[in-house]
Amino acid sequence: MNNFEYKNPTKIIFGKDTIGKLTNEIPADAKVLMLFGGGSIKKNGVYEQVKTALAKTDLIEFGGIPANPEYALLMDALKVIKEEKITYLLAVGGGSVIDGTKFLSAAAEYEGAEPWEMLKNKERPTKGMPFGTVLTLPATGSEMNSGLVITREETKEKLAMGGPALFPTFSILDPLVITSIPERQLVNGVTDAFTHVLEQYMTYPAGGLLQDRFAESILQTLIEVGPKVIKDPTDYEAGANFMWSCTMALNGLIQQGVPGDWAVHMMGHELTALFGIDHARTLAVVAPSHYKYNFEAKKEKLAQYAERVWNVTEGSIDDKAYAGIEKTEAFFHQLGIKTKLSEYTDKFEGTAEEISKRFTDRGWLGLGERQALTPQDAEKIVKMAY
Ligand code: NZQ
Ligand code: ZN
Repeated sequence: MNNFEYKNPTKIIFGKDTIGKLTNEIPADAKVLMLFGGGSIKKNGVYEQVKTALAKTDLIEFGGIPANPEYALLMDALKVIKEEKITYLLAVGGGSVIDGTKFLSAAAEYEGAEPWEMLKNKERPTKGMPFGTVLTLPATGSEMNSGLVITREETKEKLAMGGPALFPTFSILDPLVITSIPERQLVNGVTDAFTHVLEQYMTYPAGGLLQDRFAESILQTLIEVGPKVIKDPTDYEAGANFMWSCTMALNGLIQQGVPGDWAVHMMGHELTALFGIDHARTLAVVAPSHYKYNFEAKKEKLAQYAERVWNVTEGSIDDKAYAGIEKTEAFFHQLGIKTKLSEYTDKFEGTAEEISKRFTDRGWLGLGERQALTPQDAEKIVKMAY
């Protein structure tokens, strides 16, 4: 196991009818900017619950943050923060609203002229405006981590960053929000969280016995409850387990002391930037090809995964490892996700070359757990995913 230092400062408030607890979490003298998305919170009662809890708070609203939070719009929000002398941010939404809010937290303290530079330079902010979240969509884990991903339509880019100052102060996780989530987003949530675990697990044996078993248990729980929640979002027990699994999949715990891959996400982000495909679906497109392409390097963990998560008991290491990839792809299909790029767009020709060029231009010459995946490898993997 590798050495590590782990601190996760986010307070989690979990459970039924907990949105009202907001009242106690936001400092009484704060001037709050409440950020939200395209309006789902106004239809499902979440908006009312937040407004009731914060009836006595000095609060301004900023809605309209789209799925894949858009830089230009966030710059409008930054103006509001500065003009209104906001001191506290509140995200009410899914990963997009939370990531947008995190970026604003960093941008509010940024001294340069163009906050996009923070993303380009992969800065790790140590200062940020404090913010809390009310999660409405289990998926990304953004509610308990310090990462964010921002999209810029102007340049068709989608870049990630993070830093110690960007953990939410608190996050409210009320599984009742799940009842209004459309099937497409539930499917995305299960797939994204599942892939987050795979990114931190499907590497090489690194002696993290507990981390491996944490990871496997999250995967098993998602396999058990994911289809149940998709079938019936009012199933509270399934929904609560789904929600907590998504948070645990990417709050840093299972990543401690072990290598991480994250190349699936890096390639996937490009597919969202280029074609607007939902984040989770890009992962389901890339992951099977990625694991096939890197079979030799990953086969021990693939075989362990097949055995422990999918109960594959027959065959050699290679047989089991291959079965692990097939089981994963079949699970995505069972959820209703297509796993080939050509099933999302007919303009896929040239995509692999474009992604390879972008990685080269950005100096991303060695991705993955061994920093050995070159832009040329990425090109081949994306081609396999056509
Ligand atoms: O905008 P509204 O109207 O609120 O509708 C949203 C949106 O259309 C809807 N929705 C959310 N909660 C709902 C609901 N509809 C009904 N009832 C509810 N309770 O769902 C749609 C998608 O929302 P979005 O926030 O975009 O989804 P998700 O949570 O999957 O976030 C995706 C974004 O997070 C990034 C992705 O790249 C993408 O930009 N990621 C962030 C990560 C992180 N910070 O750690 C890691 C991830 O790997 C990921 O990259
Ligand atoms: Zn993800």
